[in-house]
Amino acid sequence: MSKKIILTGDRPTGRLHVGHYVGSLKERVRLQNSGQFDEIYIMIADAQALTDNAEHPEKVRQNILQVALDYLACGLDPEKATIFIQSMVPELTELTFYYMNLVTVSRVQRNPTVKAEIQMRNFEASIPVGFFCYPISQAADITAFRATAVPVGEDQMPMIEQCKEIVHKFNSVYGETLTDPKIVLPDNQACLRLPGIDGKMSKSLGNCIYLSDEADDIRKKVMSMFTDPNHLRVEDPGQVEGNPVFIYLDAFSRPEHFAEFLPEYQNLDELKAHYSRGGLGDVKVKKFLNNVLQAELAPIRERRKMWESRIEDVYDLLRVGSEKARETAASTLHDVHHAMKIDYFDDSNLLK
Ligand code: TRP
Repeated sequence: MSKKIILTGDRPTGRLHVGHYVGSLKERVRLQNSGQFDEIYIMIADAQALTDNAEHPEKVRQNILQVALDYLACGLDPEKATIFIQSMVPELTELTFYYMNLVTVSRVQRNPTVKAEIQMRNFEASIPVGFFCYPISQAADITAFRATAVPVGEDQMPMIEQCKEIVHKFNSVYGETLTDPKIVLPDNQACLRLPGIDGKMSKSLGNCIYLSDEADDIRKKVMSMFTDPNHLRVEDPGQVEGNPVFIYLDAFSRPEHFAEFLPEYQNLDELKAHYSRGGLGDVKVKKFLNNVLQAELAPIRERRKMWESRIEDVYDLLRVGSEKARETAASTLHDVHHAMKIDYFDDSNLLK
């Protein structure tokens, strides 16, 4: 039986928020604790973060520990998962360089995530080459660890597709060497694309709830969330569809939360039906959402504080994790060298 291996990661450009949590972190912790995986690698993608932050190295540097703390806070366990820093594994860069030969410029240009990011960053006229190549570097990250499963947010789907193409191309040109990965997305639709508290998809400071937010900040953010703009009076029928408060409830609430915080309703369907009919005020729904979020996020915040008080241990586990990750990546790179026939000094046949 071949091994089941997870590789995934995040760019350290800021603290992680509840969108990261429901979109992927929660799933990673669940998979970690399922005991079904032989190896789990969680990568802080600083080199990728630098592809569009070349002029802000300090921002990337500062967020390495923030992201590591967010990981540990969510329940990623250094005993079970290897947490490491991308740039500390230079083998990834070498793999990227070889994979670049297997991808065309027009193929990267068609990658929907790259397209969207180019627009968002106003890169149209001047795209940094490194940024343009990051999907290829992401394929190096995934294949270096022979990952079979990549739990990520839905926005990363085109990256996994591009990675699979590189794997197929590599294997057909150089012989069966690389492992074909599968994306793992959460089942719950609402978890795929959680909007900011203003209902917009782009996350900026102030429009999202961070895993490290204090209870009071969470409450303030929830109470200021956008809802249905036409739901002016309590008696008015309200719209559930596209309403950020209900999207968050879809993503976070469970029947137990109703029993505990809002026993006059059995479940979310009943609450939604009342809101649609009219007679249910936004404040009541928001207070419920606040209770739900506080229940989910309090243990995460506590665990984060615990690790914050042991910051040297966090630093050490990143160092040890990066060393271990490097060994794995080096072994794949060795196989790649061999497949590509660039193992000159290991191959005495070259002399014949
Ligand atoms: N692109 C991911 C993000 O935006 C980070 C990342 C880099 C990644 N390499 C990866 C995710 C490999 C999964 C697998 O956060």
